[in-house]
Amino acid sequence: MQSLINLVLFVTFLCNTNAEHGQLPSYMKKCDLKHGFSDCVKAQIEKSLPLFTKGIPELGVPSTDPVLLDDIRLDGNGLNLSFTNAAMHGLSKCLLTQLKVDIGTEEEEFDLAFKGNLSLTAKYNIDGKILILPIVGEGDATVIAQNIEVNIQSKLAHVKDSKGQSHLKLVTPNYKYDIQRTIFDLKNLFNGNKELAATTLTFANENWRQLMDDLSPPIIKQIVRTVVKAINKFFSKIAISDMISGYN
Ligand SMILES: *[C@@H]1O[C@H](CO)[C@@H](O)[C@H](O)[C@H]1NC(C)=O
Ligand SMILES: *[C@@H]1O[C@H](CO)[C@@H](O)[C@H](O)[C@H]1NC(C)=O
Repeated sequence: MQSLINLVLFVTFLCNTNAEHGQLPSYMKKCDLKHGFSDCVKAQIEKSLPLFTKGIPELGVPSTDPVLLDDIRLDGNGLNLSFTNAAMHGLSKCLLTQLKVDIGTEEEEFDLAFKGNLSLTAKYNIDGKILILPIVGEGDATVIAQNIEVNIQSKLAHVKDSKGQSHLKLVTPNYKYDIQRTIFDLKNLFNGNKELAATTLTFANENWRQLMDDLSPPIIKQIVRTVVKAINKFFSKIAISDMISGYN
């Protein structure tokens, strides 16, 4: 979660071309490119992640814990599944597991990974089969992704604001992820038939990878997009010279 927040911080700058001049939040400090830059950025991110993920209203940086998700629909392979009113919780508690910021070099890049437990809450509707087992129901869903690690890599571009000041921006971000285990809790399966529901849910949880192969890509994509947006929003408000000293 903390890593994610940091990422958001970085990405936010990119999104807003009509940048107004903002100031670093009081919980962050400038890093000097020539003196322990990497450690400083890491410390800033770790320190500010829980706060950054809650959003920075004065800079227009949205909250990323929870991340509100667009509806997710899977149709096909004998199973129709939808999640509506979905939200992903837990980014603010994620830990930064990797950080590499190449700045002041020819190719400026950003590489960040965070790890933690994320939980999705939503209204679900499911109808079809998981492997061989029929499953049908609708109600409240909780999906917990345990020890999920998300790695985001991005090139950094410079964007000038109306006052001629340079801002960082994440462009063409790539990402990959790994999930250790997923736990599904679908309430009211089979219209409340508890015995059938328990058997089927156990089976679904034993075969979670099957379900997540289809489910996680659209979810992770939205999470990354939201985080990148938040980081770019932040970047768009804070000039490079207000974040980094010793930068030419
Ligand atoms: C995620 O949850 C598992 C199981 O509850 C726990 O062992 C692990 O430490 C948690 N990971 C993080 C990063 O909080
Ligand atoms: C899934 O939805 C499609 C239409 O969106 C429908 O044709 C199909 O029969 C549905 N499959 C199941 C298993 O409900």
